[in-house]
Amino acid sequence: MDNEFYLGECGSCHFAYQPGLLPAASWKKIMSSLDDHFGENAEFPEDDANRIKSYLLEGAADYSVSRISAKFMRSLRGEAPLRISEIPYFVKEHDELPRKMVRDNSEVKSFSRCDACHTDAGKGFFDEHAVKIPGFGRWEEE
Ligand code: HEC
Ligand code: HEC
Repeated sequence: MDNEFYLGECGSCHFAYQPGLLPAASWKKIMSSLDDHFGENAEFPEDDANRIKSYLLEGAADYSVSRISAKFMRSLRGEAPLRISEIPYFVKEHDELPRKMVRDNSEVKSFSRCDACHTDAGKGFFDEHAVKIPGFGRWEEE
């Protein structure tokens, strides 16, 4: 299926997470519980849901050759969380961010909003040098 379809359907409430950001087992859980999706109903007609599911499974972190997918998979050790932001490698990379930049930041609020800080998130690029925190500016690590 084309990416445009995915972007439209799964990018209407939040950033359209690339398939390589979660393992297949996580996408399966997410796609089988869309009626209760983090407190919202995100159900789609069956045909559309199946199309989205195959797209996610084909590009899942288990099969992706990207560096980030490999790091996520290694840190997961077989776990399949519902959130990217619960993956151990993710948690480790973001643990220096103070609350005032994330939860208490009205322009961010949640780690789910990858694109609020990662300026090239839409291209699947999450390098720390392309991070700009709303209200705080570029992320410079010493
Ligand atoms: C009706 C709105 C809505 C739609 C449509 C929707 N989502 Fe979500 N999604 C949410 C909400 C709300 C959250 C929780 C955000 C938060 O915690 O800040 C979420 C969170 C997520 C997360 C976890 C992000 C993280 O790591 O914290 C994933 C993965 C996800 N959605 C995938 C999908 C996929 C795949 C689709 C398309 C099938 C989809 N969503 C469609 C509302 C939606
Ligand atoms: C509040 C801003 C913010 C949000 C929201 C955020 N990040 Fe980050 N992210 C950062 C910062 C800052 C770093 C660099 C941390 C460091 O190097 O100390 C980072 C680092 C990363 C890295 C490591 C980069 C590498 O080269 O290994 C990945 C991967 C990543 N983020 C993915 C994501 C994804 C996926 C999401 C959404 C689910 C997300 N981030 C949400 C700020 C954010």
